[in-house]
Amino acid sequence: MPRKEARRLRVGVLGCGPIAQAAHFESCTKARNADLYAICDVADDLRQRMAATHAPDKSFADYDAMLADPDLEAVIIATSDPFHVPASIKALEAGKHVLCEKPLAADVEEAETLKRVVERSGKLLQVGHMKRFDPGLEAAKSFIDTEMGDLVALKAWYCDSTHRYHMTDAVQPLIVASKAAKKPNENPKADLDRYYMLAHGSHLVDTARYFGGAIVSVEARLLNRAGIRCWFIDVEFANGALGHLDLTVAVRMDWHEGFQIYGANGSIVGKTHNPWYYKSSEVDIFHESDGTTRRVLGADGHFYRRQLEGFADVILNGMPMAGADIDDGIASVRAMVAIAQSAKTGRPVTLASVSGAL
Ligand SMILES: NC(=O)c1ccc[n+]([C@@H]2O[C@H](COP(=O)([O-])OP(=O)(O)OC[C@H]3O[C@@H](n4cnc5c(N)ncnc54)[C@H](O)[C@@H]3O)[C@@H](O)[C@H]2O)c1
Repeated sequence: MPRKEARRLRVGVLGCGPIAQAAHFESCTKARNADLYAICDVADDLRQRMAATHAPDKSFADYDAMLADPDLEAVIIATSDPFHVPASIKALEAGKHVLCEKPLAADVEEAETLKRVVERSGKLLQVGHMKRFDPGLEAAKSFIDTEMGDLVALKAWYCDSTHRYHMTDAVQPLIVASKAAKKPNENPKADLDRYYMLAHGSHLVDTARYFGGAIVSVEARLLNRAGIRCWFIDVEFANGALGHLDLTVAVRMDWHEGFQIYGANGSIVGKTHNPWYYKSSEVDIFHESDGTTRRVLGADGHFYRRQLEGFADVILNGMPMAGADIDDGIASVRAMVAIAQSAKTGRPVTLASVSGAL
């Protein structure tokens, strides 16, 4: 476990639901440069149990009360999607930095409104696209930026497995639920096209942008057959590279996620594991310069803890931002809206032209 540094970010986690239990509480308690200062949930039973397990300094039923605490420096927004923007705005206006779970929003204008608040506040907002802190993806990104030269093409796929709950049940802590939990008015799973895009497509789009840069337009097809939803998406990158994304939920096989990248001075083939194994992606980088293929081990694959450490490093030590910022978050929202529109109309859709909600 990393040794705790002297100066640590005092973090409050909003929400004691599954993602907080499986990722954020442990990330705060293990991080070298952050502490679990506070937790907050309206559900008393859940909050009390999590307080007993993770021992934060403070525990709040009321979000405003947590934000009013002058010693709190940053908030992790670990609530369901429709609460992300309002909860982020409240935290920023209270002078707190924000690490907000993905997707940033489901609506372009809502995300743009948040950007204005971020700029006014002068505080940091990072989106929880934690795959950017997977050492395998970091190695790929570093090769792209320093050695690969022109990007020719990128293929990426994110295919959830029908067996994923057996996998995650075997490795996650027991996830505690509460009848008193605050839920959005509409059931997020009422529209599965939308839900899968927000839950899974947001990761795929961010990975594509992390490697390939800005996306100009998308042309998507969606087939729903045999209970499997499959999006095949042609991507036009601003740098002229060709892109193809495959979002399939759920394949009848193991978790299947990865990417292939062809560049002037080398190629990359990556295999990503189900995140709850906390295992760095297996990324083979071929260097044309010396004809070798190299793969980083990435022994520390705790990308949720590493994303928090990266976030805290920006705030405490002025380090450059390695995570997804507000513009990356907005670009992902635009891409998801554009993919949904294109799948409906059968036409290419430009990201700059989209508005409204997914
Ligand atoms: N990065 C990843 O890999 C990953 C994985 C899973 C989920 N997520 C994201 O995490 C988010 C949360 O997912 P979840 O399943 O834990 O959500 P959830 O809705 O099950 O739990 C959220 C908890 O927050 C509490 N809450 C909400 N608003 C509150 C408020 N204003 N004040 C006090 N308590 C409040 C609720 O009572 C609930 O207990 C989602 O946006 C999801 O997309 C990310």
